[in-house]
Amino acid sequence: MLWSLVRPLLFQGDAETTHERTVSMISALGHTGAGRALLRAVSRQSLVPAAAATRVWDLEFRSPVGLAAGFDKNGVLLQALPHLGFGFAEIGSVTPRPQPGNPRPRLSRDPSRHAIWNAMGFNNDGVEVVARRLEHAREQGWIPCNFPIGVNLGKNKDTPNEEAHRDYLEGARRFLSVADYLVINVSSPNTPGLRALQEPEGIRRIVDPILESRAGSRPGVPVLLKLAPEIGGTALAELLGALEDRTDGWILTNTLQSNSGGLSGGPLAELSRARLLEAAGQTKKPIISVGGVLDPEEAARRVRAGASLVQAYAGYIYGGPAFPAELAAAISRVR
Ligand SMILES: Cc1cc2nc3c(=O)[nH]c(=O)nc-3n(C[C@H](O)[C@H](O)[C@H](O)COP(=O)(O)O)c2cc1C
Repeated sequence: MLWSLVRPLLFQGDAETTHERTVSMISALGHTGAGRALLRAVSRQSLVPAAAATRVWDLEFRSPVGLAAGFDKNGVLLQALPHLGFGFAEIGSVTPRPQPGNPRPRLSRDPSRHAIWNAMGFNNDGVEVVARRLEHAREQGWIPCNFPIGVNLGKNKDTPNEEAHRDYLEGARRFLSVADYLVINVSSPNTPGLRALQEPEGIRRIVDPILESRAGSRPGVPVLLKLAPEIGGTALAELLGALEDRTDGWILTNTLQSNSGGLSGGPLAELSRARLLEAAGQTKKPIISVGGVLDPEEAARRVRAGASLVQAYAGYIYGGPAFPAELAAAISRVR
């Protein structure tokens, strides 16, 4: 109710500037006990039912509702993330070297469709800086054991596709000791040519060295693959079949390619749900469903369709602070 009054004010300015200000505010609140209590109150975290807790891979999730990649690309909200009503969060995408991303403006909203368009292009602080932030957060005890932190890995823009596997391996090596799960993201539409890697051989070249490295350090860390919504039918069946033994799960889906960028939210909902339904019949590995989860009913529907976990980005922007808790409550009712 209150959010419906606040939202139009927030939506008046440039979308990326508003996002940066919101992140700064949440970050500041996360640094004090009173601020964290305020975040929990505003997000109505107490409404997340105990029955929402779930176990996937070997990880405990306070709730199956996670914050999707891209909201906290740099891990600057780690002290606050467990107080926003979510059950887990994915930081990144992170690339080996820091990079500025594409020129602005590169983020906009279309409230009439509950859509977000972005062409960010993996702007981020780089693997080392973000890994140190995550290590620091763990040392400080900011991350509860039932609040997994995933790290989404990308490649630098100027790394040619033939060398891409090195970028992903560098990210994986650095984060294996500190992340709860890793995501190989070859599905962003905003890094030229990246999606060309989304075929069995391209992904195998990336995944195999990571699995080898994992075997020698932390064999239990799940490594997931995040795919684009455009991949369906036989192409999806081929990928699922070829990579079933090389992945611990799937994240379906990334944004829908549109006007040199990617669309999230409303325009993605049907396709993302369709990909979940297709994949659920073809894989035994857990699926995180993301894309157009805009209300509690849709979240429940995704779980009924076979998702082990759901994530949201656009739905959180349009639904407001209590959105994650409302989703968790709805999912608990159907499980
Ligand atoms: C501004 C913005 C930045 C994003 N950045 C990333 C990213 O760095 N890595 C990634 O895998 N997905 C990224 N995403 C995609 C989201 O994680 C998610 O897959 C997509 O938005 C669909 O979910 P939604 O409809 O709930 O927003 C981004 C999305 C938005 C809106």
